[in-house]
Amino acid sequence: MSSTRLLVCEGNVAEYRRSAQFVAGSTASEAYAATLRDLAPGSSVDIVFAADPGAAIPAPLPFIDLGAQRRRLGPALDEAILRVVHGGSYILGPEVADLEAALAEFCGARHVVTCSDGTDALALCLMAKGVGPGHAVICPSFTYTATAEAVRRLGATPVFADVEDARFNLDPDGLPAALATARAAGLDPVGIIPVDLFGHPADYDPLRAFCDAHGLWMLADAAQGFGATYKGRRLGTFGFATTTSFFPAKPLGCYGDGGAICTDDAELDGLLRSLRFHGLSPDRTDNTRVGLTGRLDTIQAAILLQKLTIFDDEIAARGRLAERYGAGLAGAALTPVAAPDCVSVWAQYTIRVAPERRDGLATALKAAGIPTAIYYARPLHRQTAYRDCPVAGNGLPVTDRLATDVISLPMHPYLEEATQDRIIGAVRGALAA
Ligand SMILES: Cc1ncc(COP(=O)(O)O)c(C=O)c1O
Repeated sequence: MSSTRLLVCEGNVAEYRRSAQFVAGSTASEAYAATLRDLAPGSSVDIVFAADPGAAIPAPLPFIDLGAQRRRLGPALDEAILRVVHGGSYILGPEVADLEAALAEFCGARHVVTCSDGTDALALCLMAKGVGPGHAVICPSFTYTATAEAVRRLGATPVFADVEDARFNLDPDGLPAALATARAAGLDPVGIIPVDLFGHPADYDPLRAFCDAHGLWMLADAAQGFGATYKGRRLGTFGFATTTSFFPAKPLGCYGDGGAICTDDAELDGLLRSLRFHGLSPDRTDNTRVGLTGRLDTIQAAILLQKLTIFDDEIAARGRLAERYGAGLAGAALTPVAAPDCVSVWAQYTIRVAPERRDGLATALKAAGIPTAIYYARPLHRQTAYRDCPVAGNGLPVTDRLATDVISLPMHPYLEEATQDRIIGAVRGALAA
């Protein structure tokens, strides 16, 4: 190997990029070209020439490979989409009811109501419960913004509680402090929203026991965990309702926005169907309440019906890959482990490294064509829109620490073992350097 350092000069960036890409061109690297696009005048770059000038520099990997899934589903997927296009039932067509039945069978809930997205799924459940100003809803801060957004949107107040160190989910031991904080702020605590972060089920038994003891409801945000199993039961029946998201990157995702609510409560099922359709009465003659335009498109339902046929197999593949990551990275980074009585869907594979090593690791992996993501560098209690919301007790130490040391690696069911070995090797190499 030999290398040379080139300085990118003001005024000749385009020229430099062309020539540098030409140099890199002998080793055919899109990853290289992507790195060059990021260069700014005044920066410098080390160009490493492979010992064999014809050797390929690895192309950048996808973080999630939806193309591989599409190739697997083949023409059946295209045909399902075209059936909707030709059939013309674009809103609440037959595929929507078919999907709701298939999802109910899959997760074991009596009813499934599909809807526009995972955030509206949460909001619809909160609307059904009459949540509004003066109410407090306890939720984690270490989650995607939608969990708290659905609460705030209705005028209620999210009260942030800390998460457990092992699986980053709402810590049952932190709930008493959250309850006290909500009351001290003059709010009426009505419920909690646990999240199955990164695909790992929250610890539902103690969470439920706490809710029962304090007259709170539990709404499960399974946007990242749908398909996972807690103590032998699929997520879908642990709260008064369980919501999910079909955002494309989710373990079960569609080709746009989509969501669903699972419940065993027949009355709630009817209320949610009305709320997702402008508050329409069942006979569609009257708007009996204020609702939303909150329906799932028929085309998305048709896509999800196809994807559901391979979802179990994909969950198993994710589990195998998580185990391989765990074995390959042991000793190099803190690796995640599913709870012994749970099956995770591994929406993310998130390792922990010393905070001062994280940026360097991300940079080294990017240079090797390996994308990473930080979920979540800024927890919700530190986001502008939520900074005024109460924080349980004296702060959220676990949440704050996680924000500094987590980093997620590529994870999808079509990750080939050789590619995964390349990722493992690059992580180990970067952390050993
Ligand atoms: C934990 C969590 N809750 C809710 C949502 C909201 O889902 P959507 O993007 O479909 O509105 C997401 C989406 O990323 C999520 O990760």
